[in-house]
Amino acid sequence: MTKNIVVVGSINMDLVLPCARLPQPGETVMGRALRTEPGGKGANQAVAAARLGARVAFVGCVGDDAFGARLVAGFHAEGIDTTHVRCIADTATGIAMIQVDDQGQNSIVLGPGANEALAVAQVDAAAALIEAAGLLICQLEIPLAATQRAIDIAHAAGVPVLLNPAPAQALPASLLQQVDVLVPNEGEAALLTGLPVQGRAGAVDAALKLRQAGCATVLITLGADGVLVADAQGYRHHPAPEVTARDTTGAGDTFIGAYATARAAGEAPDAAIAFAQRAAAFSVQRLGAQAAMPSQAELRRQ
Ligand code: RIB
Repeated sequence: MTKNIVVVGSINMDLVLPCARLPQPGETVMGRALRTEPGGKGANQAVAAARLGARVAFVGCVGDDAFGARLVAGFHAEGIDTTHVRCIADTATGIAMIQVDDQGQNSIVLGPGANEALAVAQVDAAAALIEAAGLLICQLEIPLAATQRAIDIAHAAGVPVLLNPAPAQALPASLLQQVDVLVPNEGEAALLTGLPVQGRAGAVDAALKLRQAGCATVLITLGADGVLVADAQGYRHHPAPEVTARDTTGAGDTFIGAYATARAAGEAPDAAIAFAQRAAAFSVQRLGAQAAMPSQAELRRQ
């Protein structure tokens, strides 16, 4: 039976400026038309999962502005339970300033806004929801204390924890020991391990070190080179489907939402990874984060 997924995380409005190439420090480049689109790593992962058929509940914060109202309405349209999404008075909704170049690469600066108001008490209020979940998903765009509390609650209840350690930051060893599935990219894996992670060989070393740190399964996302997996069976590489990327924003979030959906539905880990890679490959061929994520029907038609 498919189990509920609970996401404790960030909600942003993405302000996206496409440009021919990303500027160097101190440089100004001309962009094209501004797009204003729903984003935030937590929200993106929740939407990816809901759009692929998962039952999803969200714990997070928006500000009392037009962006916040639009983002919560977007959750409702996706069928996401927003009982534990709080609207914070006199506070701006989180935003992400995103530049995307013509090769589909991006650079992002976050203005956390209301995401910073996600307190331990709000997570405690959602304890029963987390304890009844099939999977908890967290990232690092909210206060670490709130993430830690969500993980503590899930771990104590035997609910598997998936952590996307993004944006990269150092984490307590005790937190990593509670993570069942860690999904970093190369930069995040490098920061967590202190190893140079460039390409598959480096990813193997980092994934094995993260396993030793206590994460049961490690999935290092390598962009167009696929995913490096380390788990109790050893390590292996899953190549990515070959596609031409227009915009990679949110591709990792699509991967995580899809992987979580497949696992919550009872799929084996490698089948879940293959499904998630198809979803992520679909998403990079369209513009935006949530705007690019596939529905079940779209993935079937592919
Ligand atoms: O992972 C992509 C996301 O990172 C964007 O949607 C942006 O909001 C930032 O949180």
